[in-house]
Amino acid sequence: MSLSPKELLEEIGLSPLWVLRKRPQVARPSAGEAAEEVPASESALVESPSLPEAVAASAESLPQSSACVAQMNWDELRKSIAECRACGLCAQRKQAVPGVGDEQASWLFIGEGPGAEEDARGEPFVGQAGKLLDAMLAAIGLARGDDVYIANAVKCRPPGNRTPETAEMAACFPFLQRQIALIQPKLIVLLGRAAVNSVLGDSGSLAGLRGKTAVYRDGDREIPVVVTYHPAYLLRNLPDKAKAWEDLCRARALMKAVRETQRLG
Ligand code: URA
Repeated sequence: MSLSPKELLEEIGLSPLWVLRKRPQVARPSAGEAAEEVPASESALVESPSLPEAVAASAESLPQSSACVAQMNWDELRKSIAECRACGLCAQRKQAVPGVGDEQASWLFIGEGPGAEEDARGEPFVGQAGKLLDAMLAAIGLARGDDVYIANAVKCRPPGNRTPETAEMAACFPFLQRQIALIQPKLIVLLGRAAVNSVLGDSGSLAGLRGKTAVYRDGDREIPVVVTYHPAYLLRNLPDKAKAWEDLCRARALMKAVRETQRLG
């Protein structure tokens, strides 16, 4: 028996399925050019972004195009991320921070972008927020690198640890999109608003998004997405840790259901 994500969520009491606006589609610039945003449609379910037609037509000629990134293996992707100059964040980075963990993980956690320590060490979530993320993982029986991959919406540190701009996240999105396609996670957990904005194209408040399950489409695959608070936010707002715990419990229940469905299917 094979259930659709909507049926699965209804079955285990984790509906409603979150209906989303289509995320902004952005032409990935060649090196040195500024990213340009294309307006979002108001009506569609979230979809894996595809290239606008005009860009797709010339994609072959752009060394860093989305179409090119979409064909990369892990080594090529890491090299391309390390050398990327698609937005201004490359100017001040010590190094790009691609992500860390099991490249075939069931769980994919996505944060915002590297901070100072991550920029220095080349690994995501190694500072205070990272310690809390490790504790959050441990609370649901997970550990960094063990069936878990951790990535960020942008791979280079925004100066002063500011929130990445929409255009910066859009310029970096093909890398994240390719990571998702290579990992094929069973579940994605978005940590904070920047990750939600990047992956789902939704810039609403996090409080309104929690408790619902979105779907990320990777070709024919539909991957359930759970939204929770960013660990850095939780460090400043301790009472909201209880809500993050609720989200993690939902995510754990969802993962169990996805595994069970796959076992039966
Ligand atoms: N915050 C993030 O979102 N990502 C990191 O890698 C570190 C802090």
